[in-house]
Amino acid sequence: MISLLLIFTFINLAFGIISFDVSNSSNCLFNIINNEERELKIENILKDPLIYKDYPSIKHLPSAEERSIKDGEIPDYVINYSPLVYLYSEEKYLPYGIKEYVTNFYATFNNGSNITGFESISIQNLTNIPKNEETFLTSNTDFDSDPEWITGVKNKPNLINGEIENAPATLIIVDKGNGWVDAFWFYFYSFNLGPFVMGQGPYGNHVGDWEHSLVRYYKGEPVIVWMSAHGGGGAFYYHNLEKYKLDSRHPIIFSARGTHANYPSVGQHPHDLPYGILSDFTDRGPLWNPNQNYLGYTYDGNFVYPIENTNVKHIGREIEYDNWLSFKGHWGDKQLPYNDPRQTYSIVGGYKYINGPTGPLCKNLMRLKPCERAKWWNFWQGCNVRENIKWGVGIESEGYNCGNLFINVKTNWLKKLLQRLTWGGGLCFLIDLIYG
Ligand SMILES: *[C@@H]1O[C@H](CO)[C@@H](O)[C@H](O)[C@H]1NC(C)=O
Ligand SMILES: *[C@@H]1O[C@H](CO)[C@@H](O)[C@H](O)[C@H]1NC(C)=O
Ligand SMILES: *[C@@H]1O[C@H](CO)[C@@H](O)[C@H](O)[C@H]1NC(C)=O
Ligand SMILES: *[C@@H]1O[C@H](CO)[C@@H](O)[C@H](O)[C@H]1NC(C)=O
Repeated sequence: MISLLLIFTFINLAFGIISFDVSNSSNCLFNIINNEERELKIENILKDPLIYKDYPSIKHLPSAEERSIKDGEIPDYVINYSPLVYLYSEEKYLPYGIKEYVTNFYATFNNGSNITGFESISIQNLTNIPKNEETFLTSNTDFDSDPEWITGVKNKPNLINGEIENAPATLIIVDKGNGWVDAFWFYFYSFNLGPFVMGQGPYGNHVGDWEHSLVRYYKGEPVIVWMSAHGGGGAFYYHNLEKYKLDSRHPIIFSARGTHANYPSVGQHPHDLPYGILSDFTDRGPLWNPNQNYLGYTYDGNFVYPIENTNVKHIGREIEYDNWLSFKGHWGDKQLPYNDPRQTYSIVGGYKYINGPTGPLCKNLMRLKPCERAKWWNFWQGCNVRENIKWGVGIESEGYNCGNLFINVKTNWLKKLLQRLTWGGGLCFLIDLIYG
C-alpha cells in the first residue's frame, strides 16, 4: 500500500496529471454521434417547459470554457447522489472483481486461434490485446459448471455499508458542457443467466456481463437517471425515483435475477415480447452500495484520467490496473458452436450461449440523450425521460401502472373498477407509451 502511494505520488510529481490513451478504442459500436450539431437542446428530452426552459444545451466534446470539471476530478455530488443497487434475493451470479476475473482466461481471435503471448492474461496487459480485430477472452476452465469465479458466491454486499470488498464498481465521468455532467456507474458480473420462455431455457446466457446506470447532473444537481435494460434501457427524472432510506439523496436501482438488467421498481418486468412471455424479476435482496468500492475515472472521448481526490481506501488502484479500459474485445467466450454439448438452440429463444459483451467504453459514453441507444430521429423509439415510475407487475409488485390515468378519479369504487378493467391489458401498455 505504502509503495503504491509512493509510486502514485512520484508519477504525479514527475508527469503531472496521469492519463491513459484510449483513442483507438473509443470508436466501438455506438460512440459515434449522429447529430451533426453535436449538441442537444434540453426541450428535446425534458418536457416540462416551466422548470427546464432555461437550461442550456448538452454538448458532445465541450470546449475547455464549457467544461465544469477537471480531468481526474470526481466532484463530491457524484458520490453524494450515487445510486444503490438491490440485487435479487436469490441471485446466483453476483458482482465480480475484474482484476481476478481476467486471470481465468486466454485471448483468442474471432476464428478461435490463440493470440500469441496471451495464453494467460492480467488486468494490466489487457490493453495489449490487438485492437484491429475482433477478440475474445476465452475461459481456461468450464464456466458451465458454475465455478466460484462465475458465481461470485462470496461477493455479497456488506450488511452495514453495502460494500462488496472484492468487486469494485467502475465510475466514469464525462463532462457534457454548460454545467452538465454524466456519471456512469458500471456493474460487472461474471455471468449473465438469460431468461426462460414458457418453461424452456435459459436463452442468451453469456460469460461476462457489463451493466450500467447514468446519473446526469446539471450544476451539481441530479436531473435524470438512466439504467440499462433490454432494448435501450429506461430514463427517469431523478426526483421521481425511490431513494435510500438512510440518506435520501441516493436513488435506488433494482438488478434483475440472472440478467442483471436494471429497473426502478420491484416485481415482474415484461420486455421485448407481448403477454409477459419474456420477463425480468426484481426484488429487495442484498443492497449494494457501489460508492464504497469503485475504480474512478474521467473520460473526454480520447483519454481516460484516473481519479486523484476520492476513494481514499483504494488510492492508486486505477494506476495499478493500467489502461484496461482500452481493451476493445469481448469480456467473455465467443458464442459456443452448435456442436458443443453445452449449446442448445430453439426457435423461440435462440441460442443458449451467446457472445460475451464488450466493455464500458463501447457503451456510448459520449451520448447526448440519456439513453444508450436512442434513435433520435425516431419519435416512438426516442429517449423518453419518464415522469412516472414504471412499476413491476405480478404478485410482488409494489405499484400500479395504470394508476397514473385514474389518479384524478375520486370515487374509490369507480377507480378500482377502472383499474380492474385495464389491469395488465393492452390499454395500460398504450397509456404507458404516451403517458410514461
Ligand atoms: C492507435 O492506432 C494507430 C494506428 O493503428 C497507431 O499508430 C497508434 O500507435 C495507436 N495508439 C495507441 C495508443 O495504441
Ligand atoms: C485466425 O486469425 C488470425 C488473425 O487474423 C490469423 O493470424 C490466424 O492465422 C487465423 N487462424 C486460422 C487458423 O485461420
Ligand atoms: C490456447 O491457449 C490455451 C490456454 O493457454 C491452451 O489451453 C490451448 O491448448 C491453446 N490452444 C492452441 C490451439 O494452442
Ligand atoms: C500478460 O500477463 C500474463 C500474467 O501476468 C503473462 O503471463 C503474459 O505473458 C502477459 N502477456 C503479455 C503479452 O504481456
